[in-house]
Amino acid sequence: MIDLAVSSELEIPTPKVKPKDRVGVHGWVHYYAAFSPSFVMTIINLFKLTRYSILLDPFVGSGTTCIVAKSMGVPSIGVEFNPFAYFITRAKVGWNFDSRALEEGLILSKNASETDNEPSDDFMKWFPLGDPTVRKTLGMGRYILKEISNNDLRDFLLAALLLSLRNVARIKRGSNPVWMRVGETPPQSNHDIFGIFSEQARKMFHDQQEIRTYDQCRTEILFGDTRTLTLPEKVDAVITSPPYLNRLDYVMNYRLENDFLANLKALPALEPSRLFRKKIIGTVAVIDKSPPKDEWGKTCVEILNRIYKHTSKAAASYYYPTIMQYFKDMYECLTRMQEALKANGACIIVVQTSYFKDIEIPVSQIFSEMAQNLGFNKAFIARRENVRVHMGLLDPEQRKYAPGKTLHEDVLVLKR
Ligand SMILES: C[S@@+](CC[C@H](N)C(=O)[O-])C[C@H]1O[C@@H](n2cnc3c(N)ncnc32)[C@H](O)[C@@H]1O
Repeated sequence: MIDLAVSSELEIPTPKVKPKDRVGVHGWVHYYAAFSPSFVMTIINLFKLTRYSILLDPFVGSGTTCIVAKSMGVPSIGVEFNPFAYFITRAKVGWNFDSRALEEGLILSKNASETDNEPSDDFMKWFPLGDPTVRKTLGMGRYILKEISNNDLRDFLLAALLLSLRNVARIKRGSNPVWMRVGETPPQSNHDIFGIFSEQARKMFHDQQEIRTYDQCRTEILFGDTRTLTLPEKVDAVITSPPYLNRLDYVMNYRLENDFLANLKALPALEPSRLFRKKIIGTVAVIDKSPPKDEWGKTCVEILNRIYKHTSKAAASYYYPTIMQYFKDMYECLTRMQEALKANGACIIVVQTSYFKDIEIPVSQIFSEMAQNLGFNKAFIARRENVRVHMGLLDPEQRKYAPGKTLHEDVLVLKR
C-alpha cells in the first residue's frame, strides 16, 4: 500500500476561490468547487510547463485550468460533461472574433424570429404560462447555433444567452443550495431578453479583452465523458478536481440552462437535465451493481465493506452501491489520465475526504492506491486543509454522526 504522506516539498496556495478572484472571466459564474486562478498558475510554474507542453483538465468545469494556461501561453485540453459548463468554458477561451463581429452577431440575433417549433415542457416550465420570452429566447438560441459560422463567436453568444436566462425565468433555491427549482415569478418582468443578453455579451467581451494575450495558444475544450476519454496525443501534466463524493449535482444546479440547451439540441443526443444527470459522476443514479474490484485498492474495498455492514437505514441498499459507483467511475477516470500522461508526467488532483455516518472515507488514500495499481510510481499530498463548510453539514441526520468530524481538502500529486 502507498504510504501517503503530507509533504511540504512544493509550496502550493489554496485551490479555493476567494472573493477577490471573482473578477473578469472568473466572475461569470460561481461554479461550485472551482479553482482559484493562482492555484493553477503556481502549479504551471512549479511543473515548468511551457508553450511546448500540453496540460489536461479532464473535469474542466468552469474552465479555470484552461483559461489560466492560455493566458500564460501554455496549450491545454479541457473535458467537461455538464453542457452548461462546457459552453461557458468555451466562451472564456474562444478569442477568434473582434468587437465588430460581436456587434453584427448581436444585431442578427435581435432580428431572429421567434421559434415555430413547439418548446419542450422541460424548458417551458421555467416561465409563466403563455410567456412570449420562451419562444423569443429559443428563436435567438436557434439562430446563433445555425447561422453564426465563426465557432468562437457562436459559443460566446450562446454562453451570453445562457447567463441571461436567470433574469427572465422563474427559479428558486430549495433547501439544498445547489439544487434549483421552479419558482413563482421571474425577477425581471419586462421580459427584455435581448436587452439583457446584449448587455451581458458586451460585458463578457470586455472581460475577455482584459486577458487576451497569447491569441495563438492552442486550447481545446471537449464535450464528453472522461470515463471513456481517448486523446490522440500524450499530455505533460493533469491539473484537475473531480466531482466530490458529496452528491453535488452539477447538472441539476444548472437545470434551467441545461433544459434550454437540450431544447435547442445544442449538442448531439442531449437529453433534458432530469435524464442527463444520471450520466454525470457523483450523482445518485446507480447503473452497475457489480461488486468492488481488488484493483481499487485495499482501503477502498475495506471501507465499502464497512458501509455495507453499517446498521443505519439504507446503508446496504442505497449508500453502498452509490459510493461504490463513485469509486468505480473514478478508477476509470484515473486509468484514462494514466493513459494520457507522458512518461514522467504528473497529475495534480484536488480531492475532498468524506464521511458516511461515522466512517471516514479517505479519498486521497484510495486514489493513491488506485494510482499505484495503475502504474504510478509516486504519490503524496502537497497540501492539506480542513474544510469548514461542506455538503454533509446541511443534513441534520449526517450531523448526528461523528459530530467532531473534520473533512480535508487535499492536493494530491501522482507521478508516473
Ligand atoms: C469540481 S468540478 C471542476 C471545477 C473546475 N476545477 C473549475 O475550476 O471550475 C467537477 C466537474 O466535473 C464534471 N463531470 C462530472 N462527471 C464528469 C464526467 N463523467 N466527465 C467529464 N466531466 C465530468 C462536473 O460537471 C463538474 O463540472
